[in-house]
Amino acid sequence: MNFPKPIFTTLTFVLVLAASTAMAHPGDLPDDLLAYVKRDGLMHLIKGQQYILQEMLIGKREVNQQEFVRAAKSLASLFSMVPSTFEKNLTIDVSRAKPEIWQNWDDFTARAAEFQKIAEEIAAMGEIRGAEATMEKVRLFDCNSCHDIYRE
Ligand code: HEC
Repeated sequence: MNFPKPIFTTLTFVLVLAASTAMAHPGDLPDDLLAYVKRDGLMHLIKGQQYILQEMLIGKREVNQQEFVRAAKSLASLFSMVPSTFEKNLTIDVSRAKPEIWQNWDDFTARAAEFQKIAEEIAAMGEIRGAEATMEKVRLFDCNSCHDIYRE
């Protein structure tokens, strides 16, 4: 494939980064790279679980009560990890984290807590009233409400 050079360079960098972090032990990585790898990893896990709910919402996946509740519970616990995972004010070029995260730390963590609460409510309601009755609430995850402010 013919990518323009800047994209190619970025891709190469990301691939090398991925390969080196996949093999390295946490202790081998510089602190700034490690801080980014943890943040990025957590966010991708969040995306994976949110996709399960999203696919059920738009009819791309069969609605399954157990899977629905499990994904919501996973999201609650993943969002609870945002403060400890983003705590270190360290970054590298490839990271999209904005300095505002650490300047407005209380607001940033309050947003994560809000998402955790939504996930807990979806899990609880899903267990009591069923996945179908709870499905509309999946729309409450407006991830861009945080990304627009804290991600480049
Ligand atoms: C509390 C704020 C916050 C919330 C809520 C949040 N994110 Fe993020 N997310 C971030 C920040 C900040 C980054 C950039 C991290 C970095 O690059 O160091 C990020 C990065 C990501 C990434 C990594 C790839 C990329 O584009 O940088 C994915 C995937 C992602 N978020 C998905 C989601 C999804 C899906 C949701 C909603 C279910 C969500 N996020 C909710 C703050 C948030």
